[in-house]
Amino acid sequence: MDGEACSLAVRTGGAGNPPLVLLHGFPLTSASYDPVREAVEAVRRVITVDLRGFGRSDAPAGPYDMEVLAEDVVRAADLLGVDRFILGGHSMGGYVSFRLAARHPERLAGLVLIDTRAAPDSPEGVERRRAGMAEVRDGRRGAFLERMLPSLVAGDRPEVLEMLRAMAATVPDHVLVGCLDAMARRPDSRRLLRELDVPALVITSTEDQLLLPGEPEEMAAELPRGRLEVIPGAGHCPMLDHPEAFADALIRFLADVEPGQRS
Ligand code: MLT
Repeated sequence: MDGEACSLAVRTGGAGNPPLVLLHGFPLTSASYDPVREAVEAVRRVITVDLRGFGRSDAPAGPYDMEVLAEDVVRAADLLGVDRFILGGHSMGGYVSFRLAARHPERLAGLVLIDTRAAPDSPEGVERRRAGMAEVRDGRRGAFLERMLPSLVAGDRPEVLEMLRAMAATVPDHVLVGCLDAMARRPDSRRLLRELDVPALVITSTEDQLLLPGEPEEMAAELPRGRLEVIPGAGHCPMLDHPEAFADALIRFLADVEPGQRS
């Protein structure tokens, strides 16, 4: 499934191959990487993408399947002349990364999984998605977002919550509904992990309320070349609430993946 062509907002900076392509979570945008951009671009070429429907990218009517979002990323890499890249996905961006890895394993030079899950939604999780979809369809997106966004923040960090609100404000209702539905329908990627024989980093945060205990450790153990970095005190969005620790973890990993030849 490829979806109709649409225009995506892409930002690149830094130098060194293979580049790092970073995908954001839901209902966020590539601005979630702003606090770490400069540090990571000092060591490697970084490409961030607003997935279709988010930020400054087009928001066609649909569908918003994880496969469609993944194919957009491949098209963007093609247009940039990038063959192999290290793919980093935060939360929903991780679900997209799994689909991209399943469909185009030859494009991956490495994988970074950030506060994300290989497992599908539980039946209760699917119910919560359906309730959220109904709320947005009924014109109550504010109620949905004000319940969801605070759960992405650890502790009392009003400035982080404000950043999340600003990103979510760019996402139209039909995209919220489409992606909630797509996340509820996403396949189980756990068996894929052992086939992903590339250097892989799982980043997890101790205060993330969306992950089940032990899940990140299991993902790192299943990945043939997986390693785990734990960010103490961070919530679901460590690039926003603990940017230094997050950038350090990424930079340590990049140093080991492949020499970052200047491009
Ligand atoms: C995200 O941060 O991308 C979402 O919270 C993921 C999810 O709801 O499963």
